[in-house]
Amino acid sequence: MLADVEATVALGAALASVLPPQPAPPAVIYLEGDLGAGKTTLVTGLLRKINASEPVKSPTYTLLEVHVISGLHFYHLDFYRFSKPEEFLDAGLDDCFSGAGVCLVEWPEKARPYLPGADLVVRLAYEGGGRRARIEAVSERGWTWLSALKARLDALGWRDCSA
Ligand SMILES: Nc1ncnc2c1ncn2[C@@H]1O[C@H](COP(=O)(O)OP(=O)(O)O)[C@@H](O)[C@H]1O
Ligand SMILES: [Mg+2]
Repeated sequence: MLADVEATVALGAALASVLPPQPAPPAVIYLEGDLGAGKTTLVTGLLRKINASEPVKSPTYTLLEVHVISGLHFYHLDFYRFSKPEEFLDAGLDDCFSGAGVCLVEWPEKARPYLPGADLVVRLAYEGGGRRARIEAVSERGWTWLSALKARLDALGWRDCSA
């Protein structure tokens, strides 16, 4: 349960601390949830932890924001404005999903079936005045990162974080 904005930011930061520096091929993290569910907020927390100094702009209008922080590549994507998944093919995003780095994808469902598969799927939902996050590991390395994340959240004293 993420009671407030700070909790969403903290979850992003915790996630940042369990990802390897430059996963190759890039780590793919899907961020699902309605408008305003906190997807961009979570990415902000993640990038802040890595040490982003510039403000984290939402890529809703730009499709892609690339952050290169100390030589590490973060691709923040948002497919909200796609009217059909084929737009993914014309968007020229292959570079994001090859090489090394971390791809954080908002509205992945709008680019299916062309979007590369995820390592982790984060689902954010409104609950009371806050949000609830559910995280699912899809790949083998995703499992490794998710167990590290659980251990990290345990160590931070987060309760109510069942898998
Ligand atoms: N756990 C939370 N509880 C309450 N409000 C939150 C929480 N996390 C984020 N918010 C707020 O909800 C809004 C989410 O916006 P944003 O992260 O841009 O959503 P999305 O990218 O999913 O559309 C922001 O105003 C943010 O401050
Ligand atoms: Mg957003």
